[in-house]
Order: sequence, then C-alpha cells, then structure tokens
Amino acid sequence: MSCDVEPLFKPLQVRGLSLANRIVMAPMTRNFSPRGVPGEDVAAYYRRRAEGGTGLLITEGVGIDHPAALGDAGLGESNLPHLYGDEALAAWKRVVDGVHRAGGKIVPQLWHQGVMREPGTGPHPQAPSVRPSGLWGPQARPGSLDAGYLQRMQSATQPMTESEIQDVIDAYGRSARHARELGFDGVAIHGAHGYLIDTFLWNETNCRTDAWGGDRRARTRFAAEVVRAVRREAGEAMPIFFRFSQWKQQDFKARLATTPQELEEVLGPIADAGVDVFDGSVRYFDRAEFDGSPLNLSGWARKLTGKLSMAIGGIGLDRGFYDSKRDGRAGGSDNIELLMARFERGEFDLVAVGRALLNEPSWTQKLRAGDELPAFDEARLKELV
Ligand SMILES: Cc1cc2nc3c(=O)[nH]c(=O)nc-3n(C[C@H](O)[C@H](O)[C@H](O)COP(=O)(O)O)c2cc1C
Repeated sequence: MSCDVEPLFKPLQVRGLSLANRIVMAPMTRNFSPRGVPGEDVAAYYRRRAEGGTGLLITEGVGIDHPAALGDAGLGESNLPHLYGDEALAAWKRVVDGVHRAGGKIVPQLWHQGVMREPGTGPHPQAPSVRPSGLWGPQARPGSLDAGYLQRMQSATQPMTESEIQDVIDAYGRSARHARELGFDGVAIHGAHGYLIDTFLWNETNCRTDAWGGDRRARTRFAAEVVRAVRREAGEAMPIFFRFSQWKQQDFKARLATTPQELEEVLGPIADAGVDVFDGSVRYFDRAEFDGSPLNLSGWARKLTGKLSMAIGGIGLDRGFYDSKRDGRAGGSDNIELLMARFERGEFDLVAVGRALLNEPSWTQKLRAGDELPAFDEARLKELV
C-alpha cells in the first residue's frame, strides 16, 4: 500500500477517553449470546480486535433494560445480548476487562428495536412492542426485509403513552449507569436504521400532535431526552456517541433531511443534549450527502454541530453493506487513499470499520504495516473469528 495512513494513528482525547488511534470497530450484531449473555467466545472475539490494534470497539447492539427492547426484528435473531440482569452484567464485565487487558477501549451500543421488534418474540415475549404513532412505517418501499415479516408487522397499534415514553427513557439511563459501573469507556446510542429513536425522528412514523411530535426539530425531543438521561447516568467523563441515518430498513431511500439546514434542525437539539461524536451511517463513506459540497453525512454533522464525527461505510472494501449480500472485495489502495484525503481535510475525526474488521481481527495492524488486506468472506457472518 503506497498511501500514508500514519495520520490515523494520532491519539485523540474525548472527555475521559484516551484513544491511541482513530480506527473504530463499527457496531455489528452477531447473535451469539444465548439468553442475552455474551460468553467467553464473544469476549475473545472483542479482545482479538483490541489485540489487533483497533483503538476503540463499539459493541454490537445491546438491548437496554426495557422489556420490548429486543426480539426478532426481521432477521430471525434470538441470541442478542442485553445490558441488564446480574448474569449479563457479569458477562459484559468479563468482555470489558479482557479488552482493557489487551490495551483497548470499548463502548456498548445501546439499542431499542422499537417498531422493528416483532410482537411475541425476544426475552419478554408478552411485552407489547412500542411505536411512536402505532405505525411500523410505509409499505412497499425498497428495503431488505423478508415478505412474511413485513406482512405480519403492518397492522397499526396504539401510539406510545406518555408513561411508556418515560419508561423507555429511564431504561436508557439505567443501561448507561450499568455501562459506567462495568467500566465501559463511553456509551454509543443507536439512533439509526428505523429502530425506536429513528422512528421518532422520521415523519413517516412520528405523526404525534403532542410535545413528542411536530416539525423536524420537535421530533428530536425523544432522542434529546435519551441523550440527557444517558449523560445523567454515565457522568461527565464518558463520551456519548450518537448514530443516525437517513436510510431506514423500512425504506432505503428515506431521508430525514434534504438540505444542510434541515440536517441542522435534526442534529442541533441532539448535539445540545450532550453528544460528543456523531456517527452518520451510510453505505459508502466517499459519497457527497448534499449537492454543492463533497462532504459526506458525518462531515456535515461535524460542520453543523461543531462536535466530533466518525466516518463509516465500505472502508477497506469495494461494496457497501446491503449491496450484493453484504460481500465486498478488499478495497485496495484507492479506497484508503480516498479515505485519507477526506480525513486530512478534517472532514471527520474517527473512521469506523465494519465488515473488514469482522473478517480480519488484525485489520488495523495490517493496514499500518502495509500488508495485503483480505477480501470479505461471507462465512464470517456465521462464526466468531
Ligand atoms: C453483520 C452485521 C451486523 C450489523 N449490526 C449492526 C448493529 O447492531 N448496529 C448498527 O448500528 N449497525 C449494524 N451494522 C452496520 C455496521 O455498523 C456498518 O454501518 C455497516 O456494516 C457498514 O460498514 P462496512 O461497510 O464497513 O461494513 C451491522 C453490519 C453487519 C455487516
């Protein structure tokens, strides 16, 4: 590899978190935690990425302490981890300690599936699923979900009540407190991809006429309250990462914002609530988000809010997530050159790597050494390498 990647190996301080470099493992659901408890195999999987030199690991989505947080969200998941209960918390402590012993840092991605959770599934099958306005989302939009699941999810339910909304916010707070007590290095909030927080932001799923709905800015209230609850419980030293996306699993072409000004309306109140790093989830880091500027979604988040940002999408690979069944050849030096050009221009502060790191635990060390990076092997999705 001819391109200079050393700038990615400059340390970064975010509140109390000292990062050795700018490379982050992206959150990736693995479905290897029976009864919600990550075992020794999961702990070893994360530890290997820390040993492989990746500066920060964001865990797979971890269910918050709310009965409807997890279930089958259209992909047949049944072994998703959660962040409550003595057994799961002790198991996460072993994960965190292992990563720290290897010199790494780790934050949990707090997840509530919201509208995507199929009723009757998950660790608390009797709990009703929660939806801001009782809506799953628009029908017949391009997406990747199974037809049977889509059909079962269409009938409208009751909108969330005021007390149901408060219960979920409190649950985020409790899981943030657990994260702090277990020694995690920060908290990541999953506010993207059509799950609960995102459906408050999206006009197609939030039609509320009370204080939780309204215009673009008003629809951010739930996300902002979640961030405030997390900050209260996580304390001032722990950084908060917030993932958002234009696309939804209900509709790959959905957009929360069609102009930078609209994006500012979405991100401004969430930034003010206490976010430190925005993670704008896209499939290709090298695409302009709006006409008239090359900036990608995370680049805009940084420019509009003044917060740090993290790039994601096809780093080290030549095909994006969801394109061609999630496969991708190794991206080659032009992929990394394009990344470095944007990084050096100050468009983002961190780079998140998903499938390439799932494929190769030592990806970060290999990148730095200029070693050849392997193509993505889809078999990796079914095992914990
Ligand atoms: C197997 C798999 C599981 C994923 N699970 C999550 C998840 O739990 N939370 C999340 O925010 N994104 C999830 N993603 C999306 C990734 O974080 C990332 O945004 C996406 O893979 C694009 O990055 P990449 O091109 O480097 O793979 C998942 C992706 C894969 C491949």
